[in-house]
Amino acid sequence: MAESMQGLKRTHRCAELSVANIGETVTIMGWVQKNRNKGGLVFVDVRDRSGIIQVVCEEGKTAVEIIEKAARLRSEYVVAVVGKVGKRSGAVNENLATGEIEIIPEELRVLSESETPPFPIEEDCKTKEEIRLKYRYLDLRRPDMQKNLMMRSKVATLTRQFLADEGFMEIETPILIGSTPEGARDYLVPSRIHQGHFYALPQSPQLFKQILMCSGCDRYFQIAKCFRDEDLRADRQPEFTQIDMELSFVDVDDVLDVNERLLAKLFKEVLELEVSLPIPRMTWQEAMDRYGSDKPDTRFGMELTDVTETVRDSEFVVFKGAIENGGTVRGINAKGQGAMPRKKIDKLVDFAKDYGAKGLAYVAIQEDGSVKSSFAKFMSEEEMAALIKAMDGENGDLLLFAADKNKVVWDVLGALRLELARQMELLDKGEYKFLWVTEFPLLEWSEEQNRYTAMHHPFTMPMEEDLQYIDSDPGRVRAKAYDIVLNGNEIGGGSVRIFNPEIQSKMFEVLGFTPEQAQEQFGFLLTAFKYGVPPHAGLAYGLDRMVMLMAKEESIRDVIAFPKVKDASDLMTEAPTPVDEKQLEELGITVKVEEE
Ligand code: AMO
Ligand code: AMP
Repeated sequence: MAESMQGLKRTHRCAELSVANIGETVTIMGWVQKNRNKGGLVFVDVRDRSGIIQVVCEEGKTAVEIIEKAARLRSEYVVAVVGKVGKRSGAVNENLATGEIEIIPEELRVLSESETPPFPIEEDCKTKEEIRLKYRYLDLRRPDMQKNLMMRSKVATLTRQFLADEGFMEIETPILIGSTPEGARDYLVPSRIHQGHFYALPQSPQLFKQILMCSGCDRYFQIAKCFRDEDLRADRQPEFTQIDMELSFVDVDDVLDVNERLLAKLFKEVLELEVSLPIPRMTWQEAMDRYGSDKPDTRFGMELTDVTETVRDSEFVVFKGAIENGGTVRGINAKGQGAMPRKKIDKLVDFAKDYGAKGLAYVAIQEDGSVKSSFAKFMSEEEMAALIKAMDGENGDLLLFAADKNKVVWDVLGALRLELARQMELLDKGEYKFLWVTEFPLLEWSEEQNRYTAMHHPFTMPMEEDLQYIDSDPGRVRAKAYDIVLNGNEIGGGSVRIFNPEIQSKMFEVLGFTPEQAQEQFGFLLTAFKYGVPPHAGLAYGLDRMVMLMAKEESIRDVIAFPKVKDASDLMTEAPTPVDEKQLEELGITVKVEEE
C-alpha cells in the first residue's frame, strides 16, 4: 500500500550526506536498491540520482514496526526515511561515497511499490540494449546513465554560460520549415491546411542562422534539435542535437578562437582536463596524406607513406597497373606485427576489401630479417630493400600496401590503421586529442548524380586564391571550411559563408542548379542578401557525439535520454505507429503499402 509523503520534506539527497551530518536528523527519499535481513537486523540501501545510503534498522534502536516494514521492502520500492545519521557500526564501505555513515530510521514510509524489474538497476548492466531501451525509465535509473545525463546537462549549461558571456544571443529557429533537397534525406510533415504540401524538419538551422546575421543579431547560438533521415550508426541518430552558432564580421581564425576557448572550458570543468591551446590545425590534404582520413585519430602514429615513386619501376602488375591508371601506392607500418599469423593477415585483407580494396599487399619482416611477402616474387631484392627502407621497416614489422585511386587507398589504409590500432591496443580512452581539419575541398564529385555536390553545403565560401579554378578545375577549389575532430570523431564543423551574390550564383551554377531552381529553394536567403548582408561564419557541434566521448561511451545512444534504434524506431513508445484513417483523410493522404 502506498503511503502519502504529507508532512515530510526531503532534507538531503542520499549521497549528499557525509560524516559532517553525524548526529543530525534527516529525511531522504528514493528507491530501494536492496535490503538484507539478518534476523532482527535489516539493512536497506536507498538510492537516488546522487548515489546510495545505507539505512540500518536494529532491535533496541528502531521500533519493531519499522524493522518489520523494512524487512518487507523489495527492490525499487519508493521510500521516505526520517532518521538520525550515525557513524557506521559495521565495516566502512570503501565503494560508497557514504560508506562511513548510516541512517537509523525513526520513520519509514513506502511511497510506492514496484514489480520486480526486468533487469537489475546497477552499473555495468549486461542486459541486452533492446530490453534496456524498452524499459528506458528503468535503464535511466542506473548510475552510469544518470552520470551521463548529468554530464550532458552540465555541458549544455556551461555552453550557454560561456556563449552568453561572449556576446551570443540564444534564438530558437522553427522546426516546421520548407524542404531543401541538398544534404541528407528530409523528414516530411504533411500540411492539413495546404493539402499536398509538406513541411520538412530541419537538418540544421543553417539558413535561419544566416538570416539572423542579415537581421543584425551579430552572434547567435542555439542548442538545436536536427533531423536527418539517414542510415543509423553508432555515432548517428535520426534526431540529434547540435550546439549551433553563427557570427558576423569574422573570418576563420575568429571562429576557431572562440570555439577553442569553449572546448577548453568544457573539458576543464566537466573532466578536469587541460586542453592545451591553440588546438593543432591540419589541412584536409595533409590529413588525407598522413592518415587517410579527414577525421584522423592523432592519439597514435602509424601514418601512411606514399611509396609510388619507390615502386614505380617494379614489375609487380598490381602496383604498376594502379600507377598507370593515375593512382598511387601507399603503405602503413604496423610496428612489431611481423610475426602475425597468415590467417590474421588474411582477415586484414578481407577487412581492406570491405573498404573497396582489390587486395592488400604485405611484407612481414621476421625477427631474423628474412621477409614473408605476398609479392616479393615480383620484385628484385634491391626494389624490396628500397621499399622496406621507404617504410622505415625494421625486423619484426608488418608493412601493408594498397594500390588504387587515391580515394580508395585513403579509405582502405585509413580504416586499416584504426583497425590495427584497436588490435594493438594503442587507443587510450582517457586521452583526448583535438585537431582542426581545415581547407576542405569545396566540391566533391558524385558518381551517382554525375555532378559536383557541395562537400559542406552550398553556402560555404571558396578560398579566395582558388576562385580562379572554379570553372576550369572545380575539384581543385578549397573551401573556408573546418571540422573539429576529437580522437578520430568529427564532433563539429562549419565554414565561412558566401555573402557575395556573384560567388553564390557561381556556386549554384557549378552545383548544377538553374537560377530558377536556386531561387525556388533558397530565394528567401538570396533576397535577404540583397539588403545588406554582413560577412559571417559559423559552426555546429554534434552535442551527442561530444558527450559520448567525454563519457567514454561507445554509442551516442548512451548519452541520449530516449534514443532510436537502427531502424529509426523508439522501442519504448513504439513510434512510428500507424495513424487513424480519419487523421489521414484530414491530411488528404492515402497510404500505399508496397508488397514485399
Ligand atoms: P554538419 O552537417 O557537419 O554541419 O553537422 C554538424 C555536426 O553535427 C553532428 N552530426 C550528427 N550527430 C548525430 N547524428 C547525426 N545524424 C549527425 N549528423 C551530424 C556531427 C557534425 O560535425 N549547418 C552545418 C554547420 C555549419 O556550417 O555551421 C551543419 O549542420 O558532429
Ligand atoms: P595477385 O597477383 O592478384 O594474387 O595479388 C598479389 C598480392 O597483391 C595479393 O597479396 C593481393 O592481395 C595484393 N593486391 C591485389 N590488388 C591489390 C591492390 N589494389 N592494392 C594492394 N595490393 C593488392
